[in-house]
Amino acid sequence: MHLPSLSTTAITLLLAANAATTLVEAKVKLLSWDAAYSKAEALVSQMSLEQKVGITTGTGWMKGACVGNTYSTSSPDFPALCLQDAPLGIRFAYNVTSGVSGINAAASFDRKAIRERAEYMGKEFRGKGVHVQLGPAMNFMRNPRGGRGWEAGGEDPFLMGVLAEETVKGIQDQGVIATSKHYILNEQETNRKKSSTDVDSRTLHEIYLWPFARSVEAGVGSIMCSYNMANGTYACENEYLMNTVLKGELGFKGFVQSDWSATHSTVDAANNGLDMNMPGDVDMDHENTGTYFGKNLTDAVEAGKVSDDRATDMAMRIVASWYKMNQDKNFPDVSLDSFHLDKAPYVNVQSNHGKLVREMGAASNVLLKNVKDTLPIDPKKVKKIAVIGSDSISDPKLFNCADHGCVGDTLAQGWGSGTSFYPYLIDPLTGLSNAFGKKVAVASTADDWDLKKAAEVAKDSDYAFVFSNADSGEEYINIDGNVGDRKNLTLWHNGDNLIKAVADANKNTIVVIHAVGSVLMPWIDHPNIKAVLWPGLPGQESGNSLADVVIGKVNPSGRLPYTIAKKEEDYNTGIDEEAAYEYKEKLLLGYKWFDHAKIEPLFPFGHGLSYTKFDYSKLSVKAKASYDKKDKKTIKDATVKASISIKNAGHVEGAEIVQAYLSFPESAGSPPQQLRGFEKVFLKKGKKETVKFELTKTELSIWDEGTESWVIPSGKFTINIGASSRDIRKSSSFTL
Ligand SMILES: *[C@@H]1O[C@H](CO)[C@@H](O)[C@H](O)[C@H]1NC(C)=O
Ligand SMILES: *[C@@H]1O[C@H](CO)[C@@H](O)[C@H](O)[C@H]1NC(C)=O
Ligand SMILES: *[C@@H]1O[C@H](CO)[C@@H](O)[C@H](O)[C@H]1NC(C)=O
Ligand SMILES: *[C@@H]1O[C@H](CO)[C@@H](O)[C@H](O)[C@H]1NC(C)=O
Repeated sequence: MHLPSLSTTAITLLLAANAATTLVEAKVKLLSWDAAYSKAEALVSQMSLEQKVGITTGTGWMKGACVGNTYSTSSPDFPALCLQDAPLGIRFAYNVTSGVSGINAAASFDRKAIRERAEYMGKEFRGKGVHVQLGPAMNFMRNPRGGRGWEAGGEDPFLMGVLAEETVKGIQDQGVIATSKHYILNEQETNRKKSSTDVDSRTLHEIYLWPFARSVEAGVGSIMCSYNMANGTYACENEYLMNTVLKGELGFKGFVQSDWSATHSTVDAANNGLDMNMPGDVDMDHENTGTYFGKNLTDAVEAGKVSDDRATDMAMRIVASWYKMNQDKNFPDVSLDSFHLDKAPYVNVQSNHGKLVREMGAASNVLLKNVKDTLPIDPKKVKKIAVIGSDSISDPKLFNCADHGCVGDTLAQGWGSGTSFYPYLIDPLTGLSNAFGKKVAVASTADDWDLKKAAEVAKDSDYAFVFSNADSGEEYINIDGNVGDRKNLTLWHNGDNLIKAVADANKNTIVVIHAVGSVLMPWIDHPNIKAVLWPGLPGQESGNSLADVVIGKVNPSGRLPYTIAKKEEDYNTGIDEEAAYEYKEKLLLGYKWFDHAKIEPLFPFGHGLSYTKFDYSKLSVKAKASYDKKDKKTIKDATVKASISIKNAGHVEGAEIVQAYLSFPESAGSPPQQLRGFEKVFLKKGKKETVKFELTKTELSIWDEGTESWVIPSGKFTINIGASSRDIRKSSSFTL
């Protein structure tokens, strides 16, 4: 996706006072694929070849109201489809909600919140007449420097799979087609359009394909193939990935669309599984580069190089997805105008979604460190606080700069096509000042380089909050030598020195980091640093969400969706510069590597503190398996049920994220343990509840390369239940 040549700051919106439309409550009963296909057949069978090809072809970059637009047909009638970024909200539109990023949704470890986030996004996209939302993103944080990791759910396939499933369902329940992306092996920005990534089939299935499989099960309407090559062939013309795996093995019924100008051929792309070419042009960076689809695809069908059946199938997949989401009934007109924002009609879709964003921002804030219950703070017991760092303020000059490709104030989303305009942005200084109230003095400085001033401001305050950040994004914007991917893991804007200067001056220093992913923390053991909060990328309500946690209105329950290492060399991956490279770490990604190599992380996957404490007791595990009638050793199916009692043994109410990690039998050759379940349980103080997990064939299988199938290995399994991957409270073994 690309940066248009427009100055967003110079644009004023014409507000027609009477033009406001109310949001149509759109929760609709989706059609089954079978029902959608029979409707699609009735329509597509009336179409000419040109019409079928037209609906598979984009009209060209910046040639339409949305970032992607298809051709409409008349007799039979089928509308031009509007495809729009982004995974966290509507790009290139005003009066929309700009909420928490994918990485925060994952950090909430909260299925219900993830679903609610997707539902409000679905409402907003539908409200603006968008047929296809270009999200959720589900590329992995293979290395913390990967530029777009923050758009998705981190380093673990199970967690990413939950994010995929709940997000797809939430969006599509509102009658909007979701797009799971980017398919596949697109974990870095460096050379993304010209390098080839490869991975063995077991790793492909157990990690990278996992969230796509969960998306297909959830009924996803579209999947976007990625820019990169996989195993030497471009993803958007890769027969194995699209036809064999996605449409064959996973049984995907929707349509594959290309990433923006990721198509490289007509015949190979069409025959190998691409169903829609976006945004249409061969090269969106240059004018008049033509298209691989459109007339050229029609010619290829007429010449017999692509079958007519295949052209019909392409159209059917698009039309069926449209019927499945009930877009043939009462679908609002497109009210975006992505490249002429001042011409877009005024349609406000925000409703009360800001409230949800505030809650999700708080629910995804990870309390990394909290010495002697420094947090929460009772404002009544405070005279003065200090708020320090450019990351604590919002600079009006930088507000909604193009695709958020600028830095210098508070960070609440990364940069690139995965962004949306804030309707407003509550910065931390504002959020904290409001929460502490008028009786508490607030001293502040936003100059990260004047360490003397920072120390002075911090010195006589009861608490000193010091802020810093680290940003990343998509490759078409380069910030300070960070070409999408980060060039290092250190904090930006003199962050380490600023934090040290403040901590040297104030014995109640609280560090707050807004980061796209893991950073190095050389100051972590400074005796004056009493707490560290990790709000990630919280979106428009940033300061309010933060303050809710600081003063204890919300007891934090966010958990790290990735591993924070003590030093960069501890990660077994990097940003690869080669023209072709393999994911050599195979299954040992993230915490699985740290567990395997017995490396102590600074903060492990799944870590996050609470203001209360939870006791775990009475783990019970029951396993049931059915075996092949002839070969008694082959397990056909199995179910494992685990239950554990969780008690809030502290002084305040709060939620625990109970995590279940599975160790496979040694013969399976799997990592030491893998997340296979989590539940968020809210408990009043003194209360307890039984938390249940059910592991089915999906969670109990490994990919067998010999037979190219999922098998449940036999032998001794262990289930580890705890508060993080390194805080296991109870374990129990069972044999299958
Ligand atoms: C709609 O968005 C425009 C542009 O950001 C803004 O000026 C206007 O105040 C917004 N309207 C409402 C009701 O939020
Ligand atoms: C990669 O390509 C080689 C040679 O074309 C082929 O034998 C192999 O099956 C491919 N692997 C995958 C995972 O596509
Ligand atoms: C489309 O077809 C024309 C005529 O055969 C050819 O010259 C052109 O290069 C093709 N365009 C693309 C993008 O393949
Ligand atoms: C790491 O990158 C950031 C952002 O470009 C920069 O501010 C910082 O100085 C770099 N750190 C080191 C140690 O080079």
